[in-house]
Amino acid sequence: GKVCLAYSGGLDTSVILAWLIEQGYEVICFCADVGQEEDFKQAKEKALKIGAKACYIEDLREEFILEQCWPAIQCNAVYESVYLLGTSLARPVIARAQIKVAQKEGCIAVSHGCTGKGNDQVRFELAFYALQPSIKVIAPWRDPTFYDRFPGRKNLLDYAAEKGIPVTSTKSKPWSMDENLAHCSYEAGILEDPDITPPKDMWKLTIDPVKASDTPEDFTIEFTKGIPTQMEYTEGEKKKVVTDAVELFLAANDIAKRNGVGRIDIVENRFIGIKSRGCYETPGLTCLRAAHVDLEGLTLDREVRALRDQFVTFNYSKVLYNGLYFSPEREFLTASIIASQGHVNGTVRCRCYKGTFSVIGRSSKTEKLYDMEESSMDQIGEFSPSETGGFIGVQAIRLKKYGSMKTEAGER
Ligand code: ARG
Ligand code: SIN
Repeated sequence: GKVCLAYSGGLDTSVILAWLIEQGYEVICFCADVGQEEDFKQAKEKALKIGAKACYIEDLREEFILEQCWPAIQCNAVYESVYLLGTSLARPVIARAQIKVAQKEGCIAVSHGCTGKGNDQVRFELAFYALQPSIKVIAPWRDPTFYDRFPGRKNLLDYAAEKGIPVTSTKSKPWSMDENLAHCSYEAGILEDPDITPPKDMWKLTIDPVKASDTPEDFTIEFTKGIPTQMEYTEGEKKKVVTDAVELFLAANDIAKRNGVGRIDIVENRFIGIKSRGCYETPGLTCLRAAHVDLEGLTLDREVRALRDQFVTFNYSKVLYNGLYFSPEREFLTASIIASQGHVNGTVRCRCYKGTFSVIGRSSKTEKLYDMEESSMDQIGEFSPSETGGFIGVQAIRLKKYGSMKTEAGER
């Protein structure tokens, strides 16, 4: 039978490719371009040389931004207060494109190189089953005939040599990485000790904040219904305006990168129940999300915001983290996100400076919830201050009751 393998060109998936062929499968390789730094042409040549029947390279960058990054910004998605979900967001578009290739090629199974301890196996496989319920999954890192044969890196290298698989001479980094347009992750290896500070040369999408320019960099982001639609910034002396989604995202990445914005280090809870230490850098998304949070202050109704914060942000982030994108609950949450964003229109003036992002002003031509006169401390405005005395009095009714009870019990 035919199998479609998610192939990266690295050692693990190259060995998996050769091993699948050895098991008697015909293998179709699939490489997703989600904006990671990668020589796809070289990966394809390598796949074909090892014996893949074909190798597809799919450019998923735009759909990744439009379908995944924009909604994440619209609901201020974040996992366990810190992680902006960079890896989780890319999984649905990758899985969907892989299933399309598998269907086109008439594959009976799909395969991947995820470990048996992580989130990614769950995310990919739940997506596969949701998109094509009849598909079989081959997960070599969960199959004893595979992992007993390759217990360590040395075994993988020996097998590669035996099969004539070229191994890039660059010494493998002492951690595992996953990169896309929105982020790069670093986990495992020396990072498994949560008290080991990552070495300075690990980070690749941002410069060291200490080495960033001493001059703040200012720029503006315009949002339409909570989606970034225009960005203005200066490069050298030149004023730039971008409106294309991918260009805008890349420009935000550049600004954040040169100012060292977007690094985090977290011990998180994986879906399967183990704790794991991860270092992530999310340059542009950090700025776009923070600017969006700010604009909601100016434009979003208080109660819509509170409901969204309590139910949508937490659950959308959790659903994405746990790999449940192709689920009814995610569709329900998406509808709520869209419903919450109709008035999130305006412009945020932003500043990046030595590892920090801050907002230095915001405005909206269309939204009128913020009323300078009403909010002013210097003007009486529409409602009279005497009315708020009654408001406080009514709010105090139950607090007075509770207070008397506590006093009587000698607790106050
Ligand atoms: N812990 C992060 C997450 O679960 C990053 C995973 C990185 N994946 C990888 N295959 N290196 O989203
Ligand atoms: C992996 O286990 O393949 C990477 C880490 C993760 O998926 O959480």
